Amino acid sequence: MVRRRRLLVFTAAQLVALWLLCLLIWDPRTQTGLAAAKNWLNQQHLYPCAFLKQPAVFVHDKDHYYVVWETTCGLGTPILEWWAEAPSEPAPAHHYTQPVYRRLDAVHHRYSAIIGPVHGAARVSYQASSYRLSSRQHTFVRRGQDDRTRVLVMSDNQNGPTVFRRVLSQIQRHYGRSDGGPDAVLHLGDTVQNVDSMTDWQTQLFSPMEGGGGYLQRAPLAFVPGNHDHDKRRAPDNANVYANMYHGLHSTDDLRKATTEGNHHRFYYSASIGGARLIVLDAECPSDEQTAFLEQELQSAAFQTARFRIVAVHIPPYMEFWDPYTWNDKGEKHWGEHIRLEYDRLFRTHHVDLVVSGHQHNYQRSTVRRDEDPARSDTITYAIVGGAGGDLDLKRVEDWHMYNTTFLGHHFVSLEIDARRLDWTAYDIDGAVVDRFAIER
Ligand SMILES: [Fe+2]
Repeated sequence: MVRRRRLLVFTAAQLVALWLLCLLIWDPRTQTGLAAAKNWLNQQHLYPCAFLKQPAVFVHDKDHYYVVWETTCGLGTPILEWWAEAPSEPAPAHHYTQPVYRRLDAVHHRYSAIIGPVHGAARVSYQASSYRLSSRQHTFVRRGQDDRTRVLVMSDNQNGPTVFRRVLSQIQRHYGRSDGGPDAVLHLGDTVQNVDSMTDWQTQLFSPMEGGGGYLQRAPLAFVPGNHDHDKRRAPDNANVYANMYHGLHSTDDLRKATTEGNHHRFYYSASIGGARLIVLDAECPSDEQTAFLEQELQSAAFQTARFRIVAVHIPPYMEFWDPYTWNDKGEKHWGEHIRLEYDRLFRTHHVDLVVSGHQHNYQRSTVRRDEDPARSDTITYAIVGGAGGDLDLKRVEDWHMYNTTFLGHHFVSLEIDARRLDWTAYDIDGAVVDRFAIER
């Protein structure tokens, strides 16, 4: 009897120890430390030949996707194999694309390739292969205009990887671990703190994302460039080595040409997500070309006939929270001023529904109706979703008297779009709803 009791106590103690060990291993602080240790081992050439970054998929334009992956060794003859499944076709169309290779240093071998055009495809699968290493096969779904499309919105994880992992855990709980998560991710910028640090890219973006749901592999990310995502040297050997996926910056040769021609930092583009048309602007590099692009896109049939019209730009037109010293004395209040003074007028003229931004590390949302007469009123919802991990902005520096909701905590947004309704719900890091609104057609 005593022996049996001892055995029971011993077994219970083992189970408790195992449970505590699991809690410790899955703690975001432990995961952040493990990612840093893995990165350090790799830099000491102590890590075996492996994928440093699993193939990550980004929105390139309406029919193309940009895929980037990285290994700790050169792969010889790599290939990106991809399949596009269209309902009207009996079998998936099968393609092979040779990637662009950039050797960043002895232990960072970067590959990138474009998937597409994928006209009409409902599912796209892809796999990076070589004789040395092959990735898993990943799949993402392309929703039709009338289908319910789920978009995860977040930004400014940058130098807060532990908090970012906690936010990602909550996002996984929100979507459920088994049903595939969102159809797309809208990242509103400041993915990393230091754009020229390969360690920051690994430990602040790629490792947390791979550990926190793997959405970079199965939900194309629409990337909105933030001020921390730019290589401000404007040099031909652009150190922004992972997020240079737009407008002819795909290969080193393209980059050199773009630098010579002066359109080095053209990060603006447009794409469709479900029934919504999205225009992405680059707040950091205003130019006549970007203004002309914006005017053309706003007037385009694709934008004007879309069910919902969204503009995404890293710096909000109307900011209220920042560090008072840098805001006033360092002139940071003037960053992105052109968005309010120049672009906002265009947003209103062309009936933009929603302007989403990051940069300010907290949450705000406003619905502006500037005229009492509904027939004449221009209605735009402005939202700031800057709380995926960076230190919070808690000090008020302006008051525009326009925000309905202000939440000074870390958060993310679940955006769901179907034929007649856009549903927006903001959640805090514990999963509680902090804001909700809908636009109906
Ligand atoms: Fe920023």
